[in-house]
Amino acid sequence: MNCLLFGPPGAGKGTQSAVLVRDLGMAHLSTGDMFRNAIRSGTKWGIEAKAYMDAGALVPDEVVIGLVSEALDSLNGRQFVLDGFPRTLAQAKALEGLLEDKGLSMGPVVFLDVPDDILEGRLTGRRVCSRCGAVSHVDSSPTRVEGVCDVCGGPTVQRSDDRLEVVRQRLVAYRESTLPLRDYYLKAGRLVAVDGAAPMDVISRQVREIVSKGA
Ligand code: AP5
Repeated sequence: MNCLLFGPPGAGKGTQSAVLVRDLGMAHLSTGDMFRNAIRSGTKWGIEAKAYMDAGALVPDEVVIGLVSEALDSLNGRQFVLDGFPRTLAQAKALEGLLEDKGLSMGPVVFLDVPDDILEGRLTGRRVCSRCGAVSHVDSSPTRVEGVCDVCGGPTVQRSDDRLEVVRQRLVAYRESTLPLRDYYLKAGRLVAVDGAAPMDVISRQVREIVSKGA
């Protein structure tokens, strides 16, 4: 069942998406990853997005919606997990139109609920492998050798938008533009909240079950 993982920066959307990809074979549609790939490739969208991302602001809706539309066209029938999209009411409404146009449906919206005081530490301590993208954390899931990815041996780095001053801006943008979607999906009867502060494997079990059942 297609699903949407929703929550603040650092809630664990990427971590839990990776579990759904591994265990249920779903395709991972992460708008943040799409932008980071575009930045690495030096495309026009990448150059435009980087300025917004480095400031902790949201990339304009029309850019994001276009990218998601293309990603939905390349699924070849695979079930998918949306991570980081939609992030505004306009994106949520656009998503409904895209799904209808493409004959796709959406299952549960899983809200990873994490208190604010935990999020800053999760983001500033996150490290990402610059070769394979594996995510670790300096305290909660450190690599065996500091700065070296456990999966591929590549160098682990801090994302440029995980610096504290940018993290704080991202949390402001989340509260202003994205948090209202929680009520939107609640009213639509689609939201399933999960305690995102629980241990990762506990969350994974719950998310897998919700997505497998479709509710
Ligand atoms: P994006 O890359 O989507 O960032 P985000 O939503 O801010 O989310 P993160 O990737 O930071 O966090 P996550 O929830 O995936 O947490 P993770 O699993 O890594 O977007 C980046 C930027 O792109 C945006 O700021 C914006 O500029 C732009 N953008 C993207 N989409 C957009 C859109 N739709 N519209 C407009 N602009 C858009 O976990 C974090 C850390 O916590 C890790 O170290 C992990 O190991 C650890 N952790 C995870 N779970 C647990 C747990 N249960 N216990 C302990 N530690 C945990």
